[in-house]
Amino acid sequence: MYSTAFLDLPPLQQAGGSVQLPGSKSISNRVLLLAALSEGTTEVHDLLASDDTRVMLDALRALGCGVQEAGGGVARITGLGGRQPKSPAKLFLGNAGTAMRPLTAALALLGGEYELSGIPRMHERPIGDLVDALRQLGCRIDCVGSEGYPPLRIAQGDGLPPLRLDAPIRVRGDVSSQFLTALLLALPLVAREQEVVIEVVGELISRPYIHITLELLARFGIAVRHEAWQRFVIPAGSQYRSPGQIHVEADASSASYFIAAGAITAGVGGEKPLKILGVGLDSIQGDIRFIEAAQAMGAQVTGGPGWLEVCRGAWPLKAIDLDCNHIPDAAMTLAVMALYADGVTTLRNIASWRVKETDRIAAMACELRKLGATVQEGADWLSVAPLPQADWRAASIHTYDDHRVAMCFSLAAFNPAGLPVRIEDPRCVGKTFPDYFEALFAVAQTPQERIPVICIDGPTASGKGTVAAAVAQQLGYHFLDSGAMYRTTALAAMRAGIAIEPGQEQRLAALARGLPVRFKDGRIWLDDGDITDAIRAEEVGMNASRVSALPAVRQALVALQLAFRRLPGLVADGRDMGTVIFPGAPLKVFLTASAAVRAERRHKQLISKGISATISDLRADLEARDARDASRSVAPLVPAEDALVLDNSLLTIDEAVAQVVAWWQARQPF
Ligand code: C5P
Repeated sequence: MYSTAFLDLPPLQQAGGSVQLPGSKSISNRVLLLAALSEGTTEVHDLLASDDTRVMLDALRALGCGVQEAGGGVARITGLGGRQPKSPAKLFLGNAGTAMRPLTAALALLGGEYELSGIPRMHERPIGDLVDALRQLGCRIDCVGSEGYPPLRIAQGDGLPPLRLDAPIRVRGDVSSQFLTALLLALPLVAREQEVVIEVVGELISRPYIHITLELLARFGIAVRHEAWQRFVIPAGSQYRSPGQIHVEADASSASYFIAAGAITAGVGGEKPLKILGVGLDSIQGDIRFIEAAQAMGAQVTGGPGWLEVCRGAWPLKAIDLDCNHIPDAAMTLAVMALYADGVTTLRNIASWRVKETDRIAAMACELRKLGATVQEGADWLSVAPLPQADWRAASIHTYDDHRVAMCFSLAAFNPAGLPVRIEDPRCVGKTFPDYFEALFAVAQTPQERIPVICIDGPTASGKGTVAAAVAQQLGYHFLDSGAMYRTTALAAMRAGIAIEPGQEQRLAALARGLPVRFKDGRIWLDDGDITDAIRAEEVGMNASRVSALPAVRQALVALQLAFRRLPGLVADGRDMGTVIFPGAPLKVFLTASAAVRAERRHKQLISKGISATISDLRADLEARDARDASRSVAPLVPAEDALVLDNSLLTIDEAVAQVVAWWQARQPF
């Protein structure tokens, strides 16, 4: 995860392979509630792990449902099946509207004493229309703070009052479709002897979301009829029936970025198509119709239940003129695809873009222009001209705290001009797809030489490991601690009883070549043992220096080091990163500090770990190690010719990091 204000995407060439998308938030919470109301156990697969699903699971537990989280996105929910929930209960629902609204409706129709609250922001989100509808029915429900807002108290400890089910229940549909969804999910509880009718007051907005609700109800055995999306009838005798197992679909709008990446680059020259797992042709989400738009632009899309496969078809893409009212979120992706088309693409009927996370029409127009595009906009439309190769510019994309702006502009990294793209505030994708960029990098390919590498070489205890790790963290790049490889080889040799001396060079090289080492989440594993701390011992460091002087061992570790050069970039620290392993790296830093300062730093480090040592001994050791590293015949410790030397004797870590990042920034085209 990047700590940065920006993430630089190197130019990408192709996308292929398969990507698993995370489960949709709104489907996850609907499914959990339906499972909780059903008889028996429902095994829910691909549940989204997020704050909003967490509070729902906790609430269901508090209400007496069986909740077993089996890991890997699987949860087993044993429903109430007509039993009363545990009462009284206090439920804290964070900022999850998808938990607050339906739980309110369900608990109001079940009897019992409940308090539902959330974070302060939740208490500013209206729920009055739903509360009114439930009161009309006869439920006893109070707003504890301001009228029309949570927290809420449901006071039916002495049982459910008689409900007025004869007249249609009226609910407004023009503010939020979530109130109607809440009623649709909960009213089957009381549709036993008689049918229950809901009438929408005002034009119903967000129909695709109601469609999702109806589809999920059907999977749980409730067949709701509707007349022109204004009158909904829940038949008498309705009963929730668990489907046994259910898969939560991925968010169809999230799929749009991968469908687009496939349309732009996948399957070219016999390469692999791009397979998208988690959402498929059987999707119940409105945004799945993005596929039709992508096909109209030339994409070849096939698929089945829960999967899609995309290849480039027409190239350049075909320009389209499309009414996008049915796919408002996913249509943003088309605006970036338009850069790769054969004429002007116009997206119409997108007025809702103006009132989303940001004014999305203005945002898209402004950022597309930064890339060099010719864009026109109107109150409810946007047109984008294709961008010839020579006109592309490297741009820093402002993302307006809008996850979709960030995700769609990542597609500009496939530009034919081979330019990088900077995404500002990349973590805004966390709203729906926290690992979006990791997922993109896992399927995107680009020639190795286009993946940036920053080399930080220098002597022992110069601080390069700390500085390199911090630079990597800031830039969102991978981190290679090449010294750890020599240390691991030394440790493995010590454990295997192989003497570290020139006579054993071939055995040691064989050991290095087959080293069962894994680097994961900042820890280092040898076979199944965590050796992160063990390799830091002074003795291992000294042996690492000996083993690293053997040419065959160095050669044996080359491939392992090169494999760290992965998207979106690498910061590599060692002795020969800039001279031998990555000679073409665009930034090389030689980090030094005086022997006195280094001995002192090492001394502090050891003391803090409770290891005693004297500064003079440490200094002698450091100097011996430097001398060996600098005088060996292969890959001696010397600054690369084009390295920038940074003496950090008098700098803090933050200052050294800032200097390296500043040098890096100065070389970027943004
Ligand atoms: O950087 P660190 O102290 O962990 O490295 C341990 C030893 O590995 C160094 O003393 C050096 O001899 C060797 N090494 C190397 N080439 C590298 C990194 C480390 O020879 N790229």
